[in-house]
This record gives sequence, C-alpha cells and structure tokens, in this order.
Amino acid sequence: MGFPHTQNRVMNGAPGFRQVGDRVAGGIYWGSSGDIGWFSELHWREMSLIEIRTPERVCAQKMTAQTLLEKKRRRQPITALTAFDYPSARLLDEAGIDVILVGDSLAMTVLGYDSTLPLTMGEMLHHAKAVRRGVKSALLVVDMPYGSYHGSVDGAVKNAIRFVKAGAEAVKIEGGVARAGLVEALTLAEVPVVGHIGLTPQSLHRMGGYKVQGRSMPDIEKLFADAAALEGAGAVALVLEGVPREVAARITATVAIPTIGIGAGPECDGQILVLHDLMQWTFAKGAKFVRRFADADGALREGVGRYRVAVEERTFPSDAESYHLAAAVSAELDPVELKRVGVGR
Ligand code: KIV
Repeated sequence: MGFPHTQNRVMNGAPGFRQVGDRVAGGIYWGSSGDIGWFSELHWREMSLIEIRTPERVCAQKMTAQTLLEKKRRRQPITALTAFDYPSARLLDEAGIDVILVGDSLAMTVLGYDSTLPLTMGEMLHHAKAVRRGVKSALLVVDMPYGSYHGSVDGAVKNAIRFVKAGAEAVKIEGGVARAGLVEALTLAEVPVVGHIGLTPQSLHRMGGYKVQGRSMPDIEKLFADAAALEGAGAVALVLEGVPREVAARITATVAIPTIGIGAGPECDGQILVLHDLMQWTFAKGAKFVRRFADADGALREGVGRYRVAVEERTFPSDAESYHLAAAVSAELDPVELKRVGVGR
C-alpha cells in the first residue's frame, strides 16, 4: 500500500499544527479530509510493524531461467530452498536465495500428511499465492502435485497455467523420459519446467520406499537417459534427488542446463533443501543429506514455554504493554470499581 516511512519525516513544529502521522487522541492523524481519514491506534501499530520497522528490501538481481544458466556457465553455485508461506518466502528472498520452490514437501512439513501424495491443486495454489507475495528477486518455482499432471497432457497444461496465473515462474514435475512429451507441451505453452529425477517422492509406491536411485549400471543409464530427455524437451533445470555423488557429478557435466541437488553431492550446479529440515523444524529424523543449520524447534519451544509461564504467573502483559485511558477520563472512573476488577493491584 506504499505508506510513507514516517520515522524519517521532518515535523513541521508549529504549535497546534497537525501533520499526517501525528499521534492524537484516539489514533493517528492521517490527513485532513474525507477519504484520507483516521487510523486507529491498533492499525497504526500494525502498520508500524509491517511497513515501518522492517528494513528496506534490497533490490537484488531478478533471477530467471537465464540467470541460472549464466550461473552454471560461470560455475557459481545456485542456492535454492523451499518456502510455503509469506514470511519464510520474504525472508529467503531477502537473504538472497536464488530459487524458491513451493515444494510438495508442503504436504508433510506443514500440512501433516504422511506423504506428498494427498496434496491437492487447491492446497498448492493457496500456498503458492502466499509465497508469491513474499518473493521479489528469486525465481519462483511451484511443484505440480501428484495427480495434477498424470492424466492428459491438456489437463496438465491447464493445471500448470493455473500456477503461472498464481505467480509461478516455472513448475516442477517429477519423472524423466516418460515426461518428455509433457515438458515439450508445457514449454510450448510458455511454462518453463524444472525436471526432477532420481528419488522422486511421488513415485513412493513404485519405488517401494524413499530409496537412493542410480546405484546399478542399468539404473545409472536410465538416469542419464532421463536427464537427456528432459533437457531435449526444453526443461530449464533439473533437480537430482537421492542420487550417488559420482552419478550426479557426471550428469551435471553432461547436461547444459543447471542441476540442483538434494542428497546428490557437492558437484551439482546448485543445492536445495527443505527449509524445515535445515532449520530443524520437523518432527522427523533428518535424512543423511540434511545438515541442521539452525534449531527452530528449540527456539520455538523455548519462546512458547516462556510465554506460557509469563501468562500463568501474570507477568505478561505488563503495565507498559497495556493501553491506558487519558488521565481526564480515568479520573471519572470509580476507583473502587477499578480495584474490584483488579486494575492497579
Ligand atoms: O517438494 C520438495 O520440497 C522438493 C525438493 C526438491 C526439495 O521437491
């Protein structure tokens, strides 16, 4: 909404002269006539949190499929993470992460499903829109949920376009050779596609569990064929998940498009992790490839515990954290009655 950053505002000091942003009884003066009127104290506080106290967002370079390609060519590592809501998307974007993926790991990390399979288009769209509102510079990729691209090509293209209309700059689909035709159709429909091969969680039942892929020669050859088919069909990048380091390194050297690894070793052109895994904000034991970069679980439990104790001990909220009446109004209230309801004990 573009509110002015009033903390830098130079006040016109004339006595009795009201300026936009001045504190006056009952709220903040926000203008002199009809359509620009009064904002309540509460609204002001909300605004100050959202619009004023947050640092200016750094105007970083806009990431696109082309800038990812340039990074690969310059051998600059690509950083990618998942985000499922506005605050985490904004935080990642401001931290300079290149690619933000609204991954279907949303199903397990945030929605509490036991696999990615139950996730619906509706759920994904809801989260994709929230993430879109937080992302300015990163390339925003959205996972197509299981079932949304497994029927007709027409249906899949229609579903992908719904994500583009919600703000996705690319969609990610799982599968290799079998998806090449679809990748071509999506690319023709102006939807950039990120492929995802190796351990593809949507193939959970076919794989018989979450297992590292590409350990035998026939499986390695299949992975190479998958990567080549997706690149040939127009994919702009490839996620390699749960693949031996040696195999991922060779695929990365073979394809011209960037590879982004997760459990695929350090030679990939970039790395991706699920934000909740790296922050330790999940109830599951981390996979071998997950490094815990922070302890959100510990920090949240500690904060919530301190809040509970403060409420139970009546040390929160304090008098300073409470609103007060103007002295003149307060004087009119019956002090005996105030004592009866517990104010000023
Ligand atoms: O859904 C997801 O989070 C993914 C990974 C590649 C991180 O697909």
